[in-house]
This record gives sequence, C-alpha cells and structure tokens, in this order.
Amino acid sequence: MAKKTVKDVELKGRKILVRVDFNVPMDKNTEEITDDNRIVQALPTIKYIVEQGGKVILFSHLGKVKSEEDKVKNSLKKVSIRLSELLGKEITFIDVTRGEKLEKAINALNDGDCLLFENTRFEDIDGKKESKNDPDLGKYWASLGDVFVNDAFGTAHRNHASNVGIASNIECVSGFLMEKEIEFIGGAVDNPVHPYVAILGGAKVSDKIAVIENLLNKADKVLVGGGMMYTFLKAKGLKIGKSLVEDDRLEFAKALIEKAGDKLVLPIDTLAAKSFSNDSPFRVVDVNEIAEDEIGLDIGPKSVELFTKELQGAKTVVWNGPMGVFEMENFANGTKDVCESIANLNEAITIIGGGDSAAAAIQLGYADRFTHISTGGGASLEYLEGKELPGVVAIADK
Ligand code: 3PG
Repeated sequence: MAKKTVKDVELKGRKILVRVDFNVPMDKNTEEITDDNRIVQALPTIKYIVEQGGKVILFSHLGKVKSEEDKVKNSLKKVSIRLSELLGKEITFIDVTRGEKLEKAINALNDGDCLLFENTRFEDIDGKKESKNDPDLGKYWASLGDVFVNDAFGTAHRNHASNVGIASNIECVSGFLMEKEIEFIGGAVDNPVHPYVAILGGAKVSDKIAVIENLLNKADKVLVGGGMMYTFLKAKGLKIGKSLVEDDRLEFAKALIEKAGDKLVLPIDTLAAKSFSNDSPFRVVDVNEIAEDEIGLDIGPKSVELFTKELQGAKTVVWNGPMGVFEMENFANGTKDVCESIANLNEAITIIGGGDSAAAAIQLGYADRFTHISTGGGASLEYLEGKELPGVVAIADK
C-alpha cells in the first residue's frame, strides 16, 4: 500500500521531526567525511520543509556507540558543518540527545530554521535505549515535535526508538528519499517490469542466500559474479584452485543450480592470480582452467560479454555486489564493465541495491546514469530478500 509522504501533512509553523540516515563513512585518521552521498540525498526533504515554513528538527545515528570514547569519535558536529555547507543555510547543532538545552533550542526555532541534535546512539551507553527501542525514549522524542518525517531508509531495517519508537507515538510520514527507495527497491521486489535481470556479486554466498532465493523467484535471469561465484563453480564440479569458497554452502549452491536451470547465469572466465594482491601476476582463463595454485579475483572479459548480452532488452535491472576485488586496480574491470553495461541500458529501470556496488558506481562517475542508487546497505539487502522493514511498516498508509 502507498505510504503518506511529507506532502500529505501541514508543515507551516509546526515542529517537524526528521529522522535522516547521516551514518556517513569517515576517514579513520583525519575523521573527515569521505562520502557525503547520504547527506546530499536527504537535502530535497529538508529543503521542502524549510520552503513550506516548517521548523526542521533533524536527528540521526552515526556508527555504534558503546563508550565515552565512541561518543567523541561519533559526534554529528562534523556532519552538521557539511550539511550547512550543502544546504547553504545555518544549522543549529545541539550536542545532546535530550533535556532542557535541546528543548529550549527547539522552542527558539523560527519557521524555516533547521536544528540537528546529537547522535541518537549516545542513548545506547546507558542500557541501549535507542537500539532496543526503549518506549520512554521514543515517547520523549515524539513529544519534541508535531509531525514525524522518516527519511532514513538506510536505517529502515532497524527497530529503534528514533524510527519505530517515535512512530508509535505520533503519525509518521515518509520523506522524499524514503519514498524513492520504497518506489524503486520495493517496486523491484513486489511489482517489477519484465524482463527483469538481477546481478549479484560480493564475497560470500552466505551473505546473499536469501537475496538469491528471493530474486530467483522474481527475476527472469540472475547473473552471479564476485567472490561467491567460486562456490557455485565448485558446486558444479569445477576446480577453483585457492579461490574463495564456502564449503558449507556447496549443497545449497548445488540445489540452487539444479532448481534454477538456465535462469542462473555463472561467469565463463576469470582472472586467476598467484596471490591475493594487486601486484600478483595473473592470467585470464576459462573457469575450467584455474590452476591449483591460483586464486580467482575477478570475472573475465568473456563473462562481461555474456552478462552484457543477458542485459539486453531488460526492463528492470537490480545490481548488488561487485564482480571482483574492485578495490585492487587490476581486478576492478569486471565491476567497471558490468557497471557500464547497466548504465548504457536506456530502456530499463536500473537500480543499485546499495553497499559496495553503489560506492563503485558513484566513484566511477556513473551515478547519474542509473535510475536509482539506494542509500541503504543492510536495509536494501533485507528489502531485496523480501523482508518487511520495521521503519517502512511504521510509516502511515495513505
Ligand atoms: C547502515 O549504514 O547500514 C545504516 O546506517 C545502519 O547502520 P547500522 O548497521 O549500524 O545499524
């Protein structure tokens, strides 16, 4: 069912609680933000509320907070500075998550002003109140505003006080980012336009079992690359040398290959290296030619060609997970080329289900050529598995 959005509620002069996912990656040494995409993607909702004359009260988690040290490392102060730059507007940053200082600052807001308060997981230090959805905390945060807008799709798989907790006290509507994520990721799961091709990669079969199973039921083709392809190749009886393998998933892989038939498409060649290093010598070989002392680190050019052919004519494409060890330049081509092949499809709805593949597409400069790049990692994976996300369920239906 369609969900209510920020457009369905009165905003002018009201205190609008806005849950965003500003859990952005930071450089370990400089502690500077290394990718501000999640902040950028939240801007349309914030701008809209400002334009409508709402008083914007933003909040988010950042990392995990288990100690006082974590608090220093995971303060949202730097995020507030970046947000202010991106928005071109002053943001009042309040360094607490509750109490008089916060309440006074909220009461002092004028129409169109923005405030960001501190990391919601600071509440985890004393009894995991945020992460265990403590009912009093959800009720307290809800009491700070008149309307609740949830735009934090990246957190939608969590049942926390700052999303589900608040929503059980006041009406919750979606922001524009959340609306877009539900439309595209939810659409690809519930109501895809066919032909539908899914491309799955990443290191481990075990991380993707439920996604593969669910998408094999929904898609017309499922193309598998990345580290997990070697478990499938071994399950087919091929020798994979020292390549990554999950022996405890071989039976699952065998059963899947049998059940899926030609719906499941595996790579036909690979880059076989002597060691797990960008400096290692390597050769391009067919998948049945991997030597005992070699390790497969990427799909090969024939596989790219095969995958590109399978993609032709697709009307919906979902991609999750890199095709090889793309962090190493010599083994990044499979991921780059597949990314390009998807970006070149003009007639298809093309969706990247978050995580490494989203980062790869953005880094490679293809961001504008996809219909949708999810801001969710775990959330998009669980959505693609067909699970209900508590943060989405809590949004009011239209
Ligand atoms: C994410 O980055 O996947 C979300 O922000 C959720 O973060 P979490 O895994 O720490 O709950």
